[in-house]
Amino acid sequence: MSKKIRKFPKDFLWGAAVSSYQVEGGIENCDWSEKFPAGKSCDYYNQYEKYFDLAKDLNHDVHRFSLEWSRIQPSEGKFDRKEIEHYRKVLRALKKRNIKSMVTIWHFTLPLWLSEKGGLHNIKFPEYFESFTKFVTEELDDLVDFWVTLNEPMVYLSLAYIEGRFPPQKKKSFLVPLVFINFVRAHKKAYNTIHSINQNAKVGTAQNYCYSDAYNKKSSVNKILVKISNFITNHSFSKFIKKHSDFIGVNYYFHNRIKLTPFSFPFVKIDNENKKVSDMNWEIFPKGLHFVLKDMKKYNKPIYITENGIADSKDEKRSEFIKEHLKWMHKAIEDGVDVRGYMYWSLVDNFEWDSGFAKRFGLVEIDYQNGLEAKIRQSAYDYAEICKNNSL
Ligand code: BGC
Repeated sequence: MSKKIRKFPKDFLWGAAVSSYQVEGGIENCDWSEKFPAGKSCDYYNQYEKYFDLAKDLNHDVHRFSLEWSRIQPSEGKFDRKEIEHYRKVLRALKKRNIKSMVTIWHFTLPLWLSEKGGLHNIKFPEYFESFTKFVTEELDDLVDFWVTLNEPMVYLSLAYIEGRFPPQKKKSFLVPLVFINFVRAHKKAYNTIHSINQNAKVGTAQNYCYSDAYNKKSSVNKILVKISNFITNHSFSKFIKKHSDFIGVNYYFHNRIKLTPFSFPFVKIDNENKKVSDMNWEIFPKGLHFVLKDMKKYNKPIYITENGIADSKDEKRSEFIKEHLKWMHKAIEDGVDVRGYMYWSLVDNFEWDSGFAKRFGLVEIDYQNGLEAKIRQSAYDYAEICKNNSL
């Protein structure tokens, strides 16, 4: 793309995202803790002021993080006021630095007591989620700028119940429809609950949106498969909740190429081109963000990029990765898409779920062997310039 200067809209929000289990440390009472312990992680729970100072120095004006359900509701009948006080302090620390907060209610972890009852595939999951949402909204809403109810429900559904990788690690596809409906109901209930407490609240979800393409562009079968895949990943959930969303949160990472494989189950192959890849071996495909944003325009809602990032331990590709994605995001804005903010994933290196600590997504490097020393990467400074100038 050309070298022109790209201005972003007035009041555009710039920042980064994290989630409780991935950064806080000391979480021992959730469904991930036993099989995938994150130990001390970045100790965000105690050192959030240090990290927020870094975010401020890097010119961020929004920060996305999640509440740890297992801390706030450690057993079924008990809400822990001490933990609410903790998150109030976290939110005040952001306010003090003039950084807006985007608070995710569920980012992949459940309290142990709830997972023991079936968790996401318990028919009453939406009611449990509603009651947790009610409690946290009553206690925290005065300090929260944006609420995100669920993070990437469709991704979790497939990694937990089709691939069996994430808790409850059940390869039981027959549970997929139930979990899908539970997510839809949970979101709607949470949306209504938050609005019954604060009718001006801004409530949305953060969903993983992909750009899918056909292996063979001339094959009409492949083209149909692309349409189906695009509908399932990008629209199935969004369509159900569109009347219950004040904004759309876009997490963008993937470009998939799809083809029919008639002789091998499940008869469809989803892959990437593997040309330029991240340390996760995910293809880098910035143009796909433009497609996704244009594709979401029809919902007629403000859009925030709630996640976009790269695992790149050497920090060789991150700066260009960010800039190229921002160029395509800017083009989408020129094309009339109402994008209002961008949150890089992630502010700091952290616990990358079943991939552990080796994958480095952070703008800030964390030295786990050396007292969690935080070192700002060059790409973080490059991004900070963009945030400061609101232009690229
Ligand atoms: C999730 C994050 C995760 C990131 C990179 C998203 O799917 O919301 O928790 O770390 O992608 O894999």
